[in-house]
Amino acid sequence: TGKFTYDPGFTSTASCESGLTYIDGDEGVLLHRGYPIGQLAEQSSFMEVAYLLLNHELPSSDELAKFENTITRHTMLHEQLATFYRGFRRDAHPMAVMCGVAGALSAFYHDSTDITDPKQRMIASHRLIAKMPTIAAMAYKYSVGQPFLYPDNKLSYTGNFLRMTFGVPAEEYEVNPVVEKALDRIFILHADHEQNASTSTVRLAGSSGANPFACIAAGIACLWGPAHGGANEAALNMLHEIGRPERIPEFIARAKDKNDPFRLMGFGHRVYKNYDPRATVMQKTVREVFEALKVNDPVFEVALQLEEMALKDPYFVEKKLFPNVDFYSGVILSAIGFPTTMFTALFALARTVGWVAQWNEMISDPEQKIGRPRQLYTGPTQRDYVPVGQR
Ligand code: CMC
Repeated sequence: TGKFTYDPGFTSTASCESGLTYIDGDEGVLLHRGYPIGQLAEQSSFMEVAYLLLNHELPSSDELAKFENTITRHTMLHEQLATFYRGFRRDAHPMAVMCGVAGALSAFYHDSTDITDPKQRMIASHRLIAKMPTIAAMAYKYSVGQPFLYPDNKLSYTGNFLRMTFGVPAEEYEVNPVVEKALDRIFILHADHEQNASTSTVRLAGSSGANPFACIAAGIACLWGPAHGGANEAALNMLHEIGRPERIPEFIARAKDKNDPFRLMGFGHRVYKNYDPRATVMQKTVREVFEALKVNDPVFEVALQLEEMALKDPYFVEKKLFPNVDFYSGVILSAIGFPTTMFTALFALARTVGWVAQWNEMISDPEQKIGRPRQLYTGPTQRDYVPVGQR
């Protein structure tokens, strides 16, 4: 009609104003409230980053202790929710379970669904951040047929998650500090990434006034796709399929072939046309975890050589395709012991912080309106109905 701007995939449309995250894709820069992701990943903690995203500034020690205490107090799930899990098949994908259980939270926490009340919004935000590790760990436990473990509030956010996932009631679980640090760093690297597909989904769902638990369930559903959060699972599966360095050229050739739908998973990004700064930290973390756990997974060598070869190939150079955050994360998560099906669930756990912070930012914005894109209509022009017998 000419009345609307046509922008499929929203490649040049800003859907909102936001003070949370800045990305310069050409330079490979990512800042959260001004702080470079590299510094946060190296020096900060996931809880500190969560506080920063939610509350605009880094916390003082007292503020951080209070925040951690609040989150810790909300880690348990309503006991009735365990029954909810039992309705799923044991072989259900953890993302299917996460989506269902996160959505079901609104059926349990009625006192934090009034989005017009800032106090309720904050309680819902804390609940979501606190309960997501419990939800994800229970999805894992259910899939392997082991009993659910209650949170242990003496542990850190990430340590607690590791114990709920890998611990068993019969034994004391010792959190490995290197693994704890590495996983916490992975959570930081996934915490927020401005208006990506799942975050935009959370905002769009929230723009109608839907409760925050329902909005986060929508975000989880969107994140599941292989072009988004599902890429970490797909990337590791691909590295396994390649198997050994000699087979890399074959896969690079397939990725370049226009008639082959195959893509190098963990490569390319809508915004980054340079090295994803998160991939740099991730690559370093692989080495630390391998050293600490004394693992030597040949898949890492395949990943390193694949990166090197792709970055020298004119196809990838011209299209500015670089490794993204998901290229190396799977290698670390698998060394820690997570099955590939849990990778995207971990991404969802970490991104919940960003989703919740973005949702809060949107709801508190006085300019906020329901999201309602228009379209360019391509169907038939008006015509008259013909009764079925006359068609
Ligand atoms: N392997 C081979 N070719 C690729 C790849 C790849 N991984 N990514 C993009 N291309 C090509 C693509 O074929 C296209 O070529 P042409 O211009 O000749 O048609 C060109 O590069 C541009 O690709 P696009 O699909 O138009 O770009 P986009 O911005 O719509 O897609 C993307 C970005 C991330 C979906 C895409 O790069 C991709 O599918 N990558 C693999 C999946 C992946 O790793 N996703 C994780 C993204 S980061 C984490 C997250 O956001 O969740």
